[in-house]
Amino acid sequence: MKNLRFLFLIFTACIVAACKQGEPTNLAAGSIIPKPVSITATGKVFELTAGTVIRTTHAWPALVDSLEALTGFTFKLETGSATSGILFELDSAANELGSEGYELTIEPKKIVLRAHHAAGIFYGSQTLLQLIKPASANQKVTIPTGVIKDFPNYAWRGSMLDVSRHFFSVADVKRYIDLISHYKMNVLHLHLTDDQGWRIEIKSWPNLAQHGGTTQVGGGKGGFYTQAHYKEIVAYAAARYVTIVPEIDMPSHINAALAAYGSLNNSDTKFPKDGMYTGPAETRGIVDGKIKPTNLYTGIEVGWSTLSLSKPATLQFVNDVIRELAEITPGPYLHIGGDEAHVTKKEEYIRFINHFSEIVKANGKQMIGWEEIAQAAIDSNSIAQHWASEEHAAEAAAKGARIIMSPSKKVYLDMQYDSTTRIGLHWAAYIEVDESYNWDPATRVKGITRQHILGVEAPLWSETVTNRADIEYLAFPRLIGVAEIGWSPDGRTWDEYRVRLGNHTSHLNRLGVNFYRSPKVDWMD
Ligand code: ACM
Repeated sequence: MKNLRFLFLIFTACIVAACKQGEPTNLAAGSIIPKPVSITATGKVFELTAGTVIRTTHAWPALVDSLEALTGFTFKLETGSATSGILFELDSAANELGSEGYELTIEPKKIVLRAHHAAGIFYGSQTLLQLIKPASANQKVTIPTGVIKDFPNYAWRGSMLDVSRHFFSVADVKRYIDLISHYKMNVLHLHLTDDQGWRIEIKSWPNLAQHGGTTQVGGGKGGFYTQAHYKEIVAYAAARYVTIVPEIDMPSHINAALAAYGSLNNSDTKFPKDGMYTGPAETRGIVDGKIKPTNLYTGIEVGWSTLSLSKPATLQFVNDVIRELAEITPGPYLHIGGDEAHVTKKEEYIRFINHFSEIVKANGKQMIGWEEIAQAAIDSNSIAQHWASEEHAAEAAAKGARIIMSPSKKVYLDMQYDSTTRIGLHWAAYIEVDESYNWDPATRVKGITRQHILGVEAPLWSETVTNRADIEYLAFPRLIGVAEIGWSPDGRTWDEYRVRLGNHTSHLNRLGVNFYRSPKVDWMD
């Protein structure tokens, strides 16, 4: 009799569990990425219907649009406080939530998303979007009840997109902004210039883009952003709490400029054999007296081009480019590159970086450079981005610079996952999804501790990346692991994350992301 009762109890528990498969009630068992700071589950559900009223203390039409797109419902919008439905509430008393944090309280009859700043409302709504599971035609859309309190670990959570080696349209960049911001990243660093292409209109030096932007790796047609395009990207990003950080890579990685203006060209330039431009010759760089510009370049060698202080036009060029870029960039940062200047004499390199630093400051911005800038007279006014040399990065920190952590062996998204990956390079490493997740910025480099670190950034260089599908294949899912490193509290483990990432499959599918199905993860679809 006792056994029968026991069997009956098991049977009932199984039925209840089966019924609940379509209606999850445990908020803590969700697959939210990045993992929130705290989740308290209360075991019931909120039911979302076409009749749900959404109330907001401010107008956030984009948030309501995303909720509608995800559920297929059209919600009623009202203002004022809520006794039922969903309330987005900016609360000036909620200091404890900081500038990006939020509190999401889900009860059976209402959902309240509270934040001190609008960015917190944006991030809380991204969490809410992940909690709404797809429902088939006759299923209800339910959200498990409980409270989520959440705020970021690091201030800087970014990705870099190289639009020089291959050019990407404004629409492609907007799509990338949609995806990174959904995972609570707040910086998009645009690598706007390199040997292969100059991608931003500079009105005082028009040939930079008009000629320097006409090709790309492999010899395609290239392209560039007008200043109006750039402002459109900046505004789109700002609406999603993403700061655009523009990079003009100097003094090396500069052939596109040397090809546009003979006045910048250094007669010592030794052109690599691998990528002489062989396309149409109707457009030419501007000849300065007898000095010819270089040819355009479509290969992938690095470190062979340089600006030269012996050319009278050079500093005028630097000053004009930085001034125009500062004028169209509302964010506080300008990135001046500074990496791999293999043919720039060290003395001259240092004079360049010191000059960039002065001019960036004179234009009201803070200078960022790759870690090699540690060789110059930098201080706490500058930010150094670590990618390869721990010595340079530690030296930058010792000089007082804040550090952005982008270790190439961990977070270079253009590295192949393994030797069979169809695109990507492997000069830094093959980087599987577990490798890119399993590291801690605060202990990665000797001499760089938590207090030096501004945050993390995952660069996507585009030598082998030609379209949106390629971008997503290399970035996802590694990028969302980096987003979690930047956002979530310390104490992460791969074993826990890999299960959550597997459970996140349907959400990636719903976002339409072309992600790499790593064999390290059990994808749940
Ligand atoms: C770099 O990868 N050259 C910063």
